Amino acid sequence: MNNPGQTRQHGEPKLLLGISAGIAAYKSAELTRLLVTADVAVQVVMTRSAQQFITPLTLQALSGREVRSELFDPAAEAAMGHIELARWADLIVIAPASADLMARLAHGMADDLLSTLCLASTAPLWLAPAMNQQMWQHAATQANVATLQQRQVRMLGPDSGDQACGETGPGRMQQPADIASAILAHFGAASDATNGWPGERQ
Ligand SMILES: Cc1cc2nc3c(=O)[nH]c(=O)nc-3n(C[C@H](O)[C@H](O)[C@H](O)COP(=O)(O)O)c2cc1C
Repeated sequence: MNNPGQTRQHGEPKLLLGISAGIAAYKSAELTRLLVTADVAVQVVMTRSAQQFITPLTLQALSGREVRSELFDPAAEAAMGHIELARWADLIVIAPASADLMARLAHGMADDLLSTLCLASTAPLWLAPAMNQQMWQHAATQANVATLQQRQVRMLGPDSGDQACGETGPGRMQQPADIASAILAHFGAASDATNGWPGERQ
């Protein structure tokens, strides 16, 4: 099992993939596979509740890296502390981003590993929201989205259409292929600008 920053292949772009607790978490497995196939080093960080929707084992198998979830984890802190993990990432993408996680991020909370990493990192932060259309359109969620966008957080979607809950409207997570394309375009642009992947800059 790879340990981020120690055994990764030299020069791979480094993505911290956050997964929060939405039904669309199953799509994150495909997103992980697409990115790993494209030679992106993917370190998955799940919220505790996200593990109700997809198992860490699935994402560990697909990413080739131990999935992180706990903030207070003595073994993980000894190997790769949360601050090191925050520094390791070239880009943080959270897909799916739940309404709850976006609220916590908008308010600068650091009450679990994923939200703490977002505060401790200088990497760009992208969110792929996924939720019931009423949750998405709620004034509280829209205010949180506006706050995050003012801080240069990039929103990927959401798409509109049929939802798992039986409703129709905005709130579907963007397709994994679309999210992967945006990430690869970002890393490709960074690579072109520096004649190498971000991880090769010293
Ligand atoms: C079956 C089920 C499906 C859910 N789907 C979503 C969802 O798609 N998006 C969302 O924002 N919340 C969804 N929720 C609610 C979140 O799981 C809940 O707000 C949780 O506290 C969010 O935790 P997090 O901050 O770790 O993401 C769902 C809850 C259940 C029980």
